[in-house]
Amino acid sequence: MEFPSTRLRRLRQSAPLRRLVRETELNAGDLVLPAFVIPGRGLKEEIPSMPGCFRFSIDKLVDEVKEGNDLGLGGVILFGIPEQKDSTASGAYAAGGIVQRAVEQLKKSLPEVLVITDVCLCEYTDHGHCGVVRKEEVENDATIELLAKIAVSHARSGADALAPSDMMDGRVKTIRQALDREGFQNAVIISYAVKYASAFYGPFRDAAECAPSFGDRSSYQMDVANVEEALREASLDIDEGADIIMVKPALAYLDVIHRVKQRFGHPLAAFNVSGEYAMVEGAVRSGCLDRERIVLEILTSIKRAGADFIISYHAKEAARVLGRGDGF
Ligand code: PBG
Ligand code: ZN
Repeated sequence: MEFPSTRLRRLRQSAPLRRLVRETELNAGDLVLPAFVIPGRGLKEEIPSMPGCFRFSIDKLVDEVKEGNDLGLGGVILFGIPEQKDSTASGAYAAGGIVQRAVEQLKKSLPEVLVITDVCLCEYTDHGHCGVVRKEEVENDATIELLAKIAVSHARSGADALAPSDMMDGRVKTIRQALDREGFQNAVIISYAVKYASAFYGPFRDAAECAPSFGDRSSYQMDVANVEEALREASLDIDEGADIIMVKPALAYLDVIHRVKQRFGHPLAAFNVSGEYAMVEGAVRSGCLDRERIVLEILTSIKRAGADFIISYHAKEAARVLGRGDGF
């Protein structure tokens, strides 16, 4: 049927009608809060390149996570910044390491909160690469043994889900085997399966003090130009046992999110990364954009593309708006 019988504006004429036929629903429970944890007490330091985001000592982290939980968020993902960095990333798998202690405290204070940990070496290595370096090369097979050790130590501290973000080949299988061997059959693996060598991670590297001291990450993270390769990465991680796969970054990769979801139908996360946050905040703070509207629009678009949930530095902001029920 054609105009004038078909009038698509008919269903847009009122808020109740629009709500009734809305195809994508964003909920606070779809959002995961990223948090940086540092040694010390009573600390809440603003991150210069990410205004409105902070690094927390463990005591303050508990308050932050409680606030997120009260807003109905889906969980928290932790990134640790250790006292000291070295060439073997020993702080990453130390029993009393920063993330291990943070998880233990969160599980004690807020046992109902889902705790995810980022599993990587770069926050703990003095060279800032995501793996073991020999002769300026990142060694794949030596790295995945360490990643498994980190994952097991996080699980032992009580983490519900482990999220390897390194992009080494074969790490999901090695991590799964190590977790199972140590009795953590129920620990979930959220694999950063499709992670691009992106300039959008700039502010994160400032936040975690983990910019590589030489070279870049393009020998292990994916080429920005590729999408067929993204499908191969996703397929391998699913076969190796990833419970959930992730695409990262999100906004410049909506086509990738869409294709990965369509092809595999596997539980899918998207990471709305630090540079995406900083870009929005820059525009909002200079008066060009409306924060509430832009944040909901971006997060809704990521869900519409195919993500089941989203890790976002705007998670609390979005949950506050969604909680008021007046959305857009
Ligand atoms: C560590 C890691 C990074 C991010 C998540 N885990 C940085 C990187 O790979 O360089 C990026 C997150 C963000 O930019 O918000 N491997
Ligand atoms: Zn890394």
